[in-house]
Amino acid sequence: MKRISVRSPSNIAFIKYWGQRNKELVLPYNDSFSMNLSNCYTELQIEILEDPSIQKLDFKEYQTETFKPMGEAFLKPVHNMYKTIKQVLGTSEDFGFHMYSYNSFPKKAGIASSASFFSALAMGFARAFHAELTEKELSILARLSGSGSASRSIPDGFVWWHAGESSETSFAESIAPPDYWDIVDLVLVLSREEKKVGSQEGHKGAETSPFFLARQEYLKIHAPEMKQAFLKKDFTKFGTMVEHEALSMHHIMMTQHEPLFFWSGKTVLMLQQISAMRQKGLEVYATIDAGENIHLICQKAHEEQVTRHVAAQGIAEEIISNSAARGTTIL
Ligand code: PMV
Repeated sequence: MKRISVRSPSNIAFIKYWGQRNKELVLPYNDSFSMNLSNCYTELQIEILEDPSIQKLDFKEYQTETFKPMGEAFLKPVHNMYKTIKQVLGTSEDFGFHMYSYNSFPKKAGIASSASFFSALAMGFARAFHAELTEKELSILARLSGSGSASRSIPDGFVWWHAGESSETSFAESIAPPDYWDIVDLVLVLSREEKKVGSQEGHKGAETSPFFLARQEYLKIHAPEMKQAFLKKDFTKFGTMVEHEALSMHHIMMTQHEPLFFWSGKTVLMLQQISAMRQKGLEVYATIDAGENIHLICQKAHEEQVTRHVAAQGIAEEIISNSAARGTTIL
């Protein structure tokens, strides 16, 4: 029996992707930009079996000891990915598989668990089919899983996803290695509860927000400016833009039909605290994905002080510290 082990990071977007220009090909409206997370990752082991009728996935939840078999709802996107990769590779080969997946963080809580899982799956399946794919091809494949942000977990460090105009031109690439800048993402786990509406469902309503086009216009200026601030390591400008950008995406979410309110009271309380920390001179900024949990962005030199402040407030159940990390890797 052949075994393939893959580890893939989750990522936090500084420029978010919300809304799909082409739903089937998972093409976004705008470029997005993210950092791979060192301590939020999926470890996926795939046992390749001769019998193609066996397709199983066992999942070990965060902070649990045992793997549990996943049902059809969870397996469906995995089957789809298997079919997609066969199609992309133009192969008629078939195999069965038994997969074991472990997440180092709570899933479906705004920490991009689909990004880490589907990027790991794309690389694992590519290896199982003996395909020698480039990083660009792998990021395209990961995007086609349905979780577009998975494309950003493939390359190393700080990653730019070009929206592109076609499937071939919509891919992610690294714009800086993990050690380019020692900024930190402190994930504040405010709740481990799984969100009710997934991103893939949520993307569908994005264009119904009356502010959707305004956000796209704003991103045309904001995205290259943020990239410049990042490359110059101008933390004040970069952090300010990161926070504005997250609020701009949530503005769309809250004004689309049906509106999506991912925030809880704790999220709002924490956003107020972050602003208060800044006013006291501590440079820290917030970003939020599709979930109630908050990601704090600060410089490594301030991590301890920020962590102490946040812990003292007693709002977060847990704080997961992340530096920038490598992309998807075969173990
Ligand atoms: O990649 P998806 O379909 O899970 O969507 C991700 C959307 C956000 O996490 C909210 C933003 C982003 O760019 O990561």
